[in-house]
Amino acid sequence: MSASKFAVITGSTGGIGSAIATQLVANGWGLLLINRNTQKAEHQKRQLQQSSPDATVELFEADLMDVLQIVRVSQEIQERFPSIDALFNNSGVLTSQRINSVQGHESNYAVNTLAPYILIKNLRTALRRSEGAAQTMIINTTSSAQNAVKSLDVEALSNPETIGGLTGAYAATKLALTALGAAVSESLAAEGIKIRSVDPGPVVTPMTKTSDAMPGVLRLLVPFLFGKPEKQARKMINAANPTEFGGRSGIYISNGKEKGMPHLALELSVQASLMRKLEADAVA
Ligand SMILES: NC(=O)c1ccc[n+]([C@@H]2O[C@H](COP(=O)([O-])OP(=O)(O)OC[C@H]3O[C@@H](n4cnc5c(N)ncnc54)[C@H](OP(=O)(O)O)[C@@H]3O)[C@@H](O)[C@H]2O)c1
Repeated sequence: MSASKFAVITGSTGGIGSAIATQLVANGWGLLLINRNTQKAEHQKRQLQQSSPDATVELFEADLMDVLQIVRVSQEIQERFPSIDALFNNSGVLTSQRINSVQGHESNYAVNTLAPYILIKNLRTALRRSEGAAQTMIINTTSSAQNAVKSLDVEALSNPETIGGLTGAYAATKLALTALGAAVSESLAAEGIKIRSVDPGPVVTPMTKTSDAMPGVLRLLVPFLFGKPEKQARKMINAANPTEFGGRSGIYISNGKEKGMPHLALELSVQASLMRKLEADAVA
């Protein structure tokens, strides 16, 4: 059986990404998986094809901490798959350690904000649809941690003075990701592409169980309080359906429900400086 629809997923080897991949493939989607760890990705591919032997699962290797690798992998995908239906910008970093990307950007920013921007920019042609055709979808995986951000210093995103925990650099980079969605939704709409910023809700994953940026007590409670990846992935996939949520684009969905956009994400001055910064940082 050849797939009729293709989804690109970043970080499909992680908790939520893996559940999204499993559910999409069971529904007949072809998967184009971008991961940095080839061994994990090959293991995942074997497992997916065990349960769906005819599934199309193509692996693409890229470390999203390197702009050149993101550009290269986008080109590889577009050359082999000139038409894709969904892009799940799922990969994420939650760390309180100072780690720099190849280009010297702080890691929360490099993976959570800059990488999705570059993928959108470079996969746009494959996502584009002519008028009247079924619309395509970009899901940017944000986090409710963004609600803790009271002011956003866009210029400092790539080199923050402090990294902090869940409500520090991570939250700021997720808010910036949501602002990016709001900023580009109109121009994407003209090309038949929708974009939504989606918070999966609290999920038990390697990130929440092990990240040094999770408050210690909360980390201990994660297995008891947080949702299972399978359940939350269903909500992510529903959010990726262009006809759900009244067909609206440029919206924020949290744990399966549409919520008001954070006001900072809607500020035009924030959006304008963010777009300038992302464009400048997208060059290696
Ligand atoms: N879990 C939650 O409660 C929660 C809540 C709100 C939002 N989110 C967001 O949901 C998304 C998925 O998170 P998760 O909880 O499933 O975390 P996870 O299990 O840690 O998965 C994260 C994925 O991102 C990949 N990744 C990290 N850095 C990368 C890099 N430099 N290049 C390529 N891939 C990279 C990881 O790859 P490796 O396997 O190679 O490390 C992994 O596949 C993230 O964007 C996260 O911020 C999660």
